Amino acid sequence: MINILKIKFSIILFLASVIRKLRVFKYRIRGYDIPYSAVIEGNVKLDRLYTKGIHIGSNTLVGSGVVILSHDHCKRTNDNQPYLIDTYIGRNCFIALNSIILPGVKIGDEVIVGAGSVITKDIPSNSVVAGNPARIIRTGIKMNNFAALENWTVENGWIIE
Ligand SMILES: CC(C)(COP(=O)(O)OP(=O)(O)OC[C@H]1O[C@@H](n2cnc3c(N)ncnc32)[C@H](O)[C@@H]1OP(=O)(O)O)[C@@H](O)C(=O)NCCC(=O)NCCS
Repeated sequence: MINILKIKFSIILFLASVIRKLRVFKYRIRGYDIPYSAVIEGNVKLDRLYTKGIHIGSNTLVGSGVVILSHDHCKRTNDNQPYLIDTYIGRNCFIALNSIILPGVKIGDEVIVGAGSVITKDIPSNSVVAGNPARIIRTGIKMNNFAALENWTVENGWIIE
């Protein structure tokens, strides 16, 4: 029974990874700067006006419902065009469900953005941020290539020197 479950789980994982790669392929064709190692879940909204302005690092996981912007409507250029600005998310980050990343923000490497956060300012590497507007709630975290924590365990919780 356990073996059947394991096989079923492996098949689901395999199919999910194929779908995710196809999704990234589609984004790359449209101009987004996203590596194949990044995981972009379904129902993510990436700015459609300035696709080249969205940069996402390797192994970063962007959760469902996240919005990432690279333009503003109310701020205009001298010829009355929308203001375009690049937005960066580093590598090995976990951007949790329903967060909003505002245009022009730079998020470092190995960062966790808590569920439902609004990121209004640059975020330093190796930190956890949460809330609206997002505030740093932890520093010194380490994230691996699965966008998962290295210094947290079920038994001991956070292990931060
Ligand atoms: C960001 C996160 C990892 C933080 O975990 P943590 O460091 O253990 O945080 P804690 O529970 O110790 O909370 C620390 C403080 O941050 C606040 N906080 C934590 N997550 C928050 C969030 N998403 N939004 C606002 N505030 C948050 C807590 O209220 C607490 O505030 P206090 O110190 O005033 O009491 C976690 O809260 C989170 O959002 N996980 C994502 C879950 C998710 O999206 N799951 C689906 C996976 S696809």
